[in-house]
Amino acid sequence: MNASAVTSDLSELVSSAADSFARAATPADLENAKALFLGKAGRVTELMKGLGALSIDEKKSRGAAINQAKQAIEAALGARRQALADAELARQLQAEALDVTLPGRQRGGGGLHPISLAWERIEQIFGSMGFDVADGPEIESDWFNFTALNNPPNHPARSMQDTFYVDLKDEQGQAYCLRTHTSPMQIRHATAHAKKHAEALARGEMSEIRVIAPGRTYRVDNDATHSPMFHQVEGLWLGENVSFKDLKVTYLNFCKAFFETDELILRFRPSYFPFTEPSAEIDIQFQSGLLAGRWLEVSGSGQVHPQVVRNMGLDPERFIGFAFGSGIDRLAMLRYGVNDLRLFFEGDIRFLSQFR
Ligand code: DAH
Repeated sequence: MNASAVTSDLSELVSSAADSFARAATPADLENAKALFLGKAGRVTELMKGLGALSIDEKKSRGAAINQAKQAIEAALGARRQALADAELARQLQAEALDVTLPGRQRGGGGLHPISLAWERIEQIFGSMGFDVADGPEIESDWFNFTALNNPPNHPARSMQDTFYVDLKDEQGQAYCLRTHTSPMQIRHATAHAKKHAEALARGEMSEIRVIAPGRTYRVDNDATHSPMFHQVEGLWLGENVSFKDLKVTYLNFCKAFFETDELILRFRPSYFPFTEPSAEIDIQFQSGLLAGRWLEVSGSGQVHPQVVRNMGLDPERFIGFAFGSGIDRLAMLRYGVNDLRLFFEGDIRFLSQFR
């Protein structure tokens, strides 16, 4: 056997191995092809076995040549393995490709409830007119909710408000209820600051209370315009010279700001509340738009009764002024054109999402 014959049979072996590796489309195919050449019964092993029949010299040169061929086959195998692994990786990357330029799936964007929007707006507008904002309990004592507001036990005026009483009495046997209006905040806020005001007056300084108190209120009532839970905002302005004229100007300016229009008028309709004298319902009429020409009731109001001022711990000769209590839900219905109050409290996302 001459040297070139040796070389050519081995180089054919190498290229045939490289061919079958190249044809292997998967790692499993490639391992099968490898067994044909490098396995225990493979072609290279067979050639090694054949060395035994050769002379020492031939063994040396033939053995070295087979080894070289074997290395070439192993190199081809390694290269093909890498190529298959690269292809697999590329395939995976392709399959799992993310288009980061696509618009993302939106998280349902939240928004404020229309009542909260109206509430914030009310605070902001009265704040700009110098009113503080006060906050108080929804479970209220009989004293603050009724008696201090000149609404004594067994007085028929109590039946103006159907009340949720709470199964709870304090040490003095005082009953509790869910507050039927925000008016108890008049007493709470004024008594909390009465001392400060009395001292200021004693020093000859001007002193006044100017506050709103928005919040939740409760009554046994349920229809398209009444809900057992609803919202009111109380207003109170007491000082040495605060008059009904100030009430009219304040409330008109509030309405113009709240509804963002000058095309509205107010009507003060005589009424009765135990804690005011005189008392008036405030009606609003828009001069344009869908509701134009109709009188809509938005608030109770009046000049604060001297007995109520006394119950605040203040001198009714020095502190005169007005109060009002308006339905926040009613204001929100008018502002947003909602015709059924219950929509506000049903939690229907199709309704609520319109206010985002
Ligand atoms: N608290 C009354 C109600 O809920 C409304 C009201 C009327 C409040 C007159 C006032 C007021 O402050 O002066 O029916």
